[in-house]
Amino acid sequence: MVQIADALAGKLTGREVELRGWIYRTRTVGGKIFVVLRDATGVIQVTLTKGEVRPDQFEAAEKALIESAVKAFGTVVQDKRAPGGYELRAMDFQVVSFAEKFPISEDQSEEFLLDVRHLWVRSQRMTQIFRVRHTVVGAIHAYFRDGGFWEVQPPMITPAGSEGGSTLFEMDYFGRKAYLTQSWQLYAEALALAMEKVYYVGPSFRAEKSRTTRHLTEYWHAEMEQCWVGMDEAIKHAEGVVSHVCQRVAEERPDEVRAFGRTPEFLRAVTPPFERIRYDDALAILKAKGVELEWGRDLRTFEERALTEGKSKPIVVTHYPKVSQAFYKRRDPQDPRHVLAFDVIAGDDVGEIVGGSERETDLEVLGQAIAESGEDPKNYDWYLDTRRYGNVQHAGFGMGVERLLQWICKLGHIRDAIPFPRTPARFAP
Ligand code: 4AD
Ligand code: MG
Repeated sequence: MVQIADALAGKLTGREVELRGWIYRTRTVGGKIFVVLRDATGVIQVTLTKGEVRPDQFEAAEKALIESAVKAFGTVVQDKRAPGGYELRAMDFQVVSFAEKFPISEDQSEEFLLDVRHLWVRSQRMTQIFRVRHTVVGAIHAYFRDGGFWEVQPPMITPAGSEGGSTLFEMDYFGRKAYLTQSWQLYAEALALAMEKVYYVGPSFRAEKSRTTRHLTEYWHAEMEQCWVGMDEAIKHAEGVVSHVCQRVAEERPDEVRAFGRTPEFLRAVTPPFERIRYDDALAILKAKGVELEWGRDLRTFEERALTEGKSKPIVVTHYPKVSQAFYKRRDPQDPRHVLAFDVIAGDDVGEIVGGSERETDLEVLGQAIAESGEDPKNYDWYLDTRRYGNVQHAGFGMGVERLLQWICKLGHIRDAIPFPRTPARFAP
């Protein structure tokens, strides 16, 4: 089996091959039909000349609408006039399946394209993104595996959350309340005490009602947890994995990222360390720029934009105020008003791509923090066993795969970073 990319790379020139794919567009000029064919790897022009293919095949090609499935046998030749510089001169052309009139044409609304997402996934824009996503996810796995982390899987159905009740999806579990996981957090801490260095790449769910360009209700979360380390080591791994992903994409997907206006050179420059700013200093920087933020408030898009403006690498904000932070984050022993937590913040309006922290190890402080967060400590008793049996310092983070992809490809909206986006307004198709 050969693919279009091989032909475009000049590997098939002069050879007789069969290409299989779908009609992207056709044009008839005199005694010739130019069929632009796409497969998973690219598009190429197939030229049918009257008299050189069977008359019924010529007719079928003339009749076949966009997205009809075809097999074309012929010779690959270099031809400057053809888009991509190569074409297949057909000797045999079979329409495997005549398509009905394809509902997508040019200039359709975003809403309509979301309604027909199951067809829109065939577009060049989507398939380019999917190829980058493939590289991104592969690079995340490679980073952690090469670094000695074990891949382990948490449950998706859980009795309690870790990131606050307001974004929990509740479900009926045979008459009892259960929730879709927001993060592997609590399970990661249990598993880290078994395997020491663990990671996970899989779905997380957030009942996030806010309609923004960077929130999904179902997203892919790349998370790590490590024993015997603190915030600093977790930050180094966050920088490490973001950088590794950027290097791999620059190397394997230069054409795709260029199509989105990102250069491989830009990605290659994303190397550790990233600039680190304490939350309190971030407020001062913002103030100097005329942006007032009340101490204790989370950074919003506006502040994140002001902080990353003009910077080509993401930044790391550390030492957030303890107020309104998740209960498991460790109080800073130097200053208990802050927690040893950090976010990696990217530019281009993507904002927070990683959130992590050192974990509270003090059983009493942790139990109190759970109660203060309004949760029922009974639901967390099993989790507190991690502090009762072989308690050690540990830290970790979670990275939004779609946020990272959105930033790498400069996508205006996070929904394009995942094949079938789930947002407050939509869970179909
Ligand atoms: O900052 P978050 O909420 O942190 C946690 O869940 C921790 N328990 C992670 C950990 O330490 N293991 O989420 C982590 C990341 C965010 O930085 C963001 O990139 C992404 O997950 N994220 C979302 N991505 C898309 N849509 C949403 N609604 C998201 N919410 C969080
Ligand atoms: Mg966060």
